[in-house]
Amino acid sequence: MRLLITGAGGAAAISVWKSLAAEHELHMADMDPLASGLYLVPEAQRLIIPRGDDPRLLDVLYDACKARRIELLLPTVDAELFPVAMARDRFESIGVTLPISPAECLRICRDKQLLLDAVQGKVPVPGNEPLTQEAADRVDSFPRFVKPRLGAGSRGIAKIERREDFDTQPKDGSVMLQEYLPGEEFSVDVYVRRDGVVIGAVPRERMKVDSGIAIASRTVNVPEVIQAAIRTAEIIGIRGVANVQFKRAADGVFKLLEVNPRFPGTLPLTAAAGVDIPKLMVDEAMGRPMPDKLLPFKELMVVRYWTERYFDAREWEALCRRQ
Ligand SMILES: Nc1ncnc2c1ncn2[C@@H]1O[C@H](COP(=O)(O)OP(=O)(O)O)[C@@H](O)[C@H]1O
Ligand SMILES: [Mg+2]
Repeated sequence: MRLLITGAGGAAAISVWKSLAAEHELHMADMDPLASGLYLVPEAQRLIIPRGDDPRLLDVLYDACKARRIELLLPTVDAELFPVAMARDRFESIGVTLPISPAECLRICRDKQLLLDAVQGKVPVPGNEPLTQEAADRVDSFPRFVKPRLGAGSRGIAKIERREDFDTQPKDGSVMLQEYLPGEEFSVDVYVRRDGVVIGAVPRERMKVDSGIAIASRTVNVPEVIQAAIRTAEIIGIRGVANVQFKRAADGVFKLLEVNPRFPGTLPLTAAAGVDIPKLMVDEAMGRPMPDKLLPFKELMVVRYWTERYFDAREWEALCRRQ
């Protein structure tokens, strides 16, 4: 199969390359000619694209899919997901499979308040309300936690230890005031079949993080977390891959943090543990038989390290000219 993967400089795209490069023709795309993943594929399979919020992105992707006869387009960059999902018909009309969640589901995932509202009463969620001056004045016990509704990459998060910590926080409803969750944190990699059945749900503990990438982690079989992740994915209508995050509350219950409706950067571990999500995605796109129930996985730990790719600088110069 011929695939076009965006975000070639990110750990997610490289994870997909690791699973699929031996058997499939991968085209790698990024806005930055220095994105490492570009140089993992032959020169003709590299592509420079505009930013995720640039209106030209869709035309560039569409033209590339058409010219290269791409069969599956996999955006791995947050900012690209929604615009690409909105153009689904256009891509499908030229035979391109788009293994991402529907636009409505992406909209819910982007706004953590909408997400918690959607699953409230069906999945454990942290105590939560919009941060206003009145809400801040009412708080009578600490610590608490605040984070932006539309945040990502841990930007704007803060543990609130005392009343003065609220002083610097916006109180216009853009920030969520939450119960502080002191316990362990799990990221669950899920895969949902096109008909809505969840066939993969593998909790990962991020044990050491460097620049947003887990460099030490392990899979852990926690049935309560697996079930909560499955329910969350079902309620909001995830299709394909997503990463559902939980943290344990003081009362011992795992509560929902957020859902990232895209490929995470630590997929090789999930694959090694027995659930190879990129392979499931390609199998489904090719119409191959799919598992009919939740796949088992083993508990496994990983540490990660850097590796190098050497090439002629003229290859980089050639990509710079295509910007
Ligand atoms: N209510 C909470 N209590 C304690 N820590 C939290 C809480 N919500 C989030 N966090 C911490 O903040 C991090 C980022 O929050 P998250 O909801 O995953 O947003 P994002 O990753 O989009 O920035 C989490 O990985 C977790 O460690
Ligand atoms: Mg997160």
